[in-house]
Amino acid sequence: MTKLVEREDGRPTVVLGVTGCIAAYKACELVRLLQKADVRVKVVMTEHATHFVDPLTFRALTHEEVAVGLFDDPWDPIHHISLAQEADVFCIAPCTGNVLAKLACGIADDLLTTAALAVTSPLVIAPAMNVHMYEHPATQGNLDVLAARGACIVSADEGYLACGDVGRGRLAEPAVIAEAVLGALRARDARPRDLEGVRVLVTAGPTVEPIDPVRFVSNRSSGKMGYALARAAQQRGAAVTLVSGPVALERPQGVSFRGVGSACDMLGACEELFPAADIAVFAAAVADYRPEHAAPRKLKKGRADDDLECIRLVPNPDILATMAARKSSGQTVIGFAAETEDVVPNAREKLARKGADMIVANQVGEGLVFGADTDKAYLVTSSSVEELPEMAKDDLAHAILDAAVALRA
Ligand code: CTP
Repeated sequence: MTKLVEREDGRPTVVLGVTGCIAAYKACELVRLLQKADVRVKVVMTEHATHFVDPLTFRALTHEEVAVGLFDDPWDPIHHISLAQEADVFCIAPCTGNVLAKLACGIADDLLTTAALAVTSPLVIAPAMNVHMYEHPATQGNLDVLAARGACIVSADEGYLACGDVGRGRLAEPAVIAEAVLGALRARDARPRDLEGVRVLVTAGPTVEPIDPVRFVSNRSSGKMGYALARAAQQRGAAVTLVSGPVALERPQGVSFRGVGSACDMLGACEELFPAADIAVFAAAVADYRPEHAAPRKLKKGRADDDLECIRLVPNPDILATMAARKSSGQTVIGFAAETEDVVPNAREKLARKGADMIVANQVGEGLVFGADTDKAYLVTSSSVEELPEMAKDDLAHAILDAAVALRA
């Protein structure tokens, strides 16, 4: 596990909320993992959690008082506020469906939920519950609400559950939760929180255009650039929605996610989500064409009326241009271009034709590797061109967001 750089004023503090769930014992291991990374952990428990693990266990592990009741500390009449202020990251693991619902609604009826409402630092939530409770639309809706507000959700794992059911609902492994907490601490230290309160929409990945239920037309986009942008915006405090075609990437934590298939699906999602976005980055490699007719059943080779040798293609709608045409004054729209030659003039033409505020132009050509982790780009606006050196996509994502922030200033 990566050690954090020690701060001048001592170790960073993670306030760990433990709620009433059989997985509460796993929070003990989480405490140890965070301590090994030089993090000070303070535990706050719900009353129900104390039925599963005695507060003494956490007191012994952390060498800190363990808070449970709102009025337990006679020396600190506003304990919930001091807890919230102490937290460099506030983590709730395991988080029951009930506490999740309270967080989503802003209900504050015990020390943990009251402190959570007062927290301004990053919030990491690791839910754990029965599969049917986890999959219930209310729970999924609550998770979406919290992710859209910028909370980092460490999704529950699939597996054997304490109730005997098998499915999604197991608390994520303590090492995974610890990495999410440490990632939030690192991001807080390393990046500006200049997108707090800003809503960012990102499209990513390829689109797939069905020929029939088993065949499709698509492209080799890995989705890495769009996912890097979603992660970067989330780290900088934005409420991020990621609209993604099918890719083999981990969903970024703390990001509201919408999976789509075809360009028309992606357009539909963007039409719904774009009006609420302050910044929209169209990083998806949208298939330019789609089969005119998607057959409802699998086409058979050699069957006279199933012509697999000649598939008529029709152009897809241009999502970037469609959304940019609906742009209101407070919105910033960013698109991408892949060019083999005349990179800047072509990017300028695309900027004007599609109505974007900025085009991220990639020089592509012989050395082009699909799915590469680095990129070389120019940031082109109507009044400027910035040539960036080759850099990791994560760094390029931050450079793009720096430019977006500057455009909005
Ligand atoms: N785009 C889109 N909808 C499409 C096609 C592209 O939203 N149907 C967006 C992409 O997400 C990207 C930009 O437009 O932001 C890329 O434009 P595109 O015209 O496809 O440029 P290139 O990929 O550079 O290809 P070409 O030069 O062939 O136009």
